[in-house]
Amino acid sequence: MMASEAQKPNQIVAIPIWTTLILLLPTSTISSVASDCSFPAIFNFGDSNSDTGGLSAAFGQAPPPNGLTHFHTPSGRYSDGRLLIDFIAESLGLPYLSAYLDSVGSNFSHGANFATAGSTIRPQNTTIGQSGYSPISLDVQSVQFSDFHKRSHLIRNKGQVFETLLPKDHYFSQALYTFDIGQNDLTAGYKLNLTTQQVEASIPDVLAHFSAVIKNVYNEGGRSFWIHNTGPLGCLPYMLDRYPITPAQLDKYGCATQFNEVAQYFNLKLKEWVLRLREELPAAAITYVDIYTVKYTLISQAHKYGFEEPLRACCGHGGKYNFNNKARCGATKRLNGKKIVIAKACKDPTVRINWDGIHYTEAANKWIFQQISNNGSFSDPPLLLPLNMACHKSIYSQLKF
Ligand SMILES: *[C@@H]1O[C@H](CO)[C@@H](O)[C@H](O)[C@H]1NC(C)=O
Ligand SMILES: *[C@@H]1O[C@H](CO)[C@@H](O)[C@H](O)[C@H]1NC(C)=O
Ligand SMILES: *[C@@H]1O[C@H](CO)[C@@H](O)[C@H](O)[C@H]1NC(C)=O
Ligand SMILES: *[C@@H]1O[C@H](CO)[C@@H](O)[C@H](O)[C@H]1NC(C)=O
Repeated sequence: MMASEAQKPNQIVAIPIWTTLILLLPTSTISSVASDCSFPAIFNFGDSNSDTGGLSAAFGQAPPPNGLTHFHTPSGRYSDGRLLIDFIAESLGLPYLSAYLDSVGSNFSHGANFATAGSTIRPQNTTIGQSGYSPISLDVQSVQFSDFHKRSHLIRNKGQVFETLLPKDHYFSQALYTFDIGQNDLTAGYKLNLTTQQVEASIPDVLAHFSAVIKNVYNEGGRSFWIHNTGPLGCLPYMLDRYPITPAQLDKYGCATQFNEVAQYFNLKLKEWVLRLREELPAAAITYVDIYTVKYTLISQAHKYGFEEPLRACCGHGGKYNFNNKARCGATKRLNGKKIVIAKACKDPTVRINWDGIHYTEAANKWIFQQISNNGSFSDPPLLLPLNMACHKSIYSQLKF
């Protein structure tokens, strides 16, 4: 379905305490009352934070003990269980997303997941073998989405089983489009030995690529966008272990200040791009979700929320952070001809935040989901709508804060 035919989001009033402000606005901006969007599908773009099997399908399965808490078997996810995108799908009454790249057992009737672990926004100049970054960067995901859209229509028209495996045409304009990507563009810079200044200098170009993809999805008919910002990189064992960091470079919770500042700078610029996109794509409802603050709140106040050891990986192999880049979660070793797992899961992942040094546990993901889905207290504009109403343009998104 093309842009002009697409459903136009309604403009609505979100929360009553803003009534006085609303009264000052022209009544034409308030055209209807908030209602559930009934998203029929989700299309997701991203990296390992939302990969439900893409990298596994292309480059080999995520090993056990990934998946142990919820799926009781590896499930293509880098976590012990569900990811934010799984909780999002559940809460909208939709099935978990099949990875677009997974040709075995997939069902795309209610959406598709284009994310792969290690994905960056900008294409990298290294192979996955050299650097670990996925060749399925966001621009590739965008091409895959366009192709999926076109071919779903053609193949669905063949009828029979294809009708139950592919989304209906109108789902593309009514779907929720979710994005969680950017973290790897920052770490890729550091891996190339760039200074923080140089990493920051690359961010405008990174975000120009991001913006181009949002516009492509919009041109394909997408209208409801849910964009996660990037998390506190400096609190991840993977970063804390990899780079020499002096105690003076740690904040009072033990996170590396410089990496968190880069993540925050990325987020600041991302927010600026989102404001610009709202102007350029007037029929889109674009929600910017402050995942950084939610994750940092959880890590810095872990005990208050029932969690332990926020900076130590649950699944790993030794060291201050229980993280060893050469023996990541699930790593095995041959001993007397037998394969034994040397990077095992901790006893109780349900009280841990960090799963494998890079990714979050299911318990943390669930907590984070609760914070972002309820009342928009972590979203921009500040008083936004719950997740199930993200098809509506909030009147607040037209105000400049
Ligand atoms: C890859 O190389 C090209 C050409 O040198 C350069 O313009 C681009 O910025 C590089 N990409 C990244 C992600 O470093
Ligand atoms: C695909 O999933 C949908 C929704 O869960 C279901 O109705 C349909 O039967 C599934 N298709 C197949 C071939 O299993
Ligand atoms: C970065 O620096 C390290 C240590 O000096 C070096 O081993 C590595 O090859 C460098 N990486 C790149 C991509 O230049
Ligand atoms: C929003 O929801 C969160 C999580 O349920 C809750 O802690 C917070 O108090 C709520 N905020 C408001 C303003 O209702």
